[in-house]
Amino acid sequence: MPVGSWGYEAGEGFNLTPTTQKESTLLIIKFLMDDQQFRKLLDFLGLSWKGYRKVRKGVKKRISRYMQAHGYLGSDVFLSALEKSRERREQVEKILTVSISRFFRDRKLWQALVKYVLPLITAEHREKVKVWSAGCACGEEVYSFKILWQEWGKGCPRLPELQIWATDLNPEFLSRAQTGIYSWSSVKEVSEEWLPRYFSYLSGTHLAISSSLKEGIHWSLHDLLSDDTPQKGLQIVFLRNNLLTYYQGASQKPALNKVIDSLSPGGFLIIGAHEKIPKEFTELLPFPHHPNVLQKNPLLPAPVHETVP
Ligand SMILES: C[S@@+](CC[C@H](N)C(=O)[O-])C[C@H]1O[C@@H](n2cnc3c(N)ncnc32)[C@H](O)[C@@H]1O
Repeated sequence: MPVGSWGYEAGEGFNLTPTTQKESTLLIIKFLMDDQQFRKLLDFLGLSWKGYRKVRKGVKKRISRYMQAHGYLGSDVFLSALEKSRERREQVEKILTVSISRFFRDRKLWQALVKYVLPLITAEHREKVKVWSAGCACGEEVYSFKILWQEWGKGCPRLPELQIWATDLNPEFLSRAQTGIYSWSSVKEVSEEWLPRYFSYLSGTHLAISSSLKEGIHWSLHDLLSDDTPQKGLQIVFLRNNLLTYYQGASQKPALNKVIDSLSPGGFLIIGAHEKIPKEFTELLPFPHHPNVLQKNPLLPAPVHETVP
């Protein structure tokens, strides 16, 4: 039997079931993986050490808890189990996902969307506008966009039909998004005027999103690395604080190619406040009004799927 990195003999099925909460906490502390082991796990899964910097402590705890529950007492035996079992690997990938988000995160970005992006898009696409929130977490981003659209639309003589796709790797986050219940801290950037219009009070700690905002959103499980994009010919793709932060370059690039391909020429890619697009993606042009908005070159020919009647 292999000896794990903590010096314990380890293997799946090793019985390590704590009987009390205190015992459980002690075990997690005892078997909390160190940074070197965590880095090895991230490398193995193509994830970025730098990207996990701020959330490392909490994620390490979650992984350690999972290892303990399944009897993996060492990182070598754990990695070899992930290599052998796709199911285990997928479970661990989900545990590594981070759901941090909030309504109207990066306020100036939303101002740029209203002032510059929506007028351009709706002038060009008068019938239908298609938007994808990729890695939507618990829905904060997608509902923020719907609020913005409805508010902006009040001054618009004829608003195009809006279709939205919201996808995530983690089914638990998607289900929370569809339920639409949020803590007060996640709505702190919603204006006082909009708060009562789009949320109802549930308790001193939580609010519920208005059911009208839930209409017309196609929710689905989706892995940016392996799945085809849910739609093509999109006018806006939100790709914020996931692929470009948490993944290493080699895993990012093929996924990014697919995302760019899903945009129509002239469509907009929205990235996170601390993210950058690798230089080789020359089909994306900087947008003068905001550093995290990129525009797919409008002069590129429309992909074949868009020209088929
Ligand atoms: C930090 S949240 C960002 C949420 C939102 N986009 C924002 O910026 O506020 C990252 C989300 O990306 C999702 N995610 C991570 N890897 C993914 C993948 N390979 N495919 C799809 N979603 C992924 C996570 O499950 C998580 O919900």
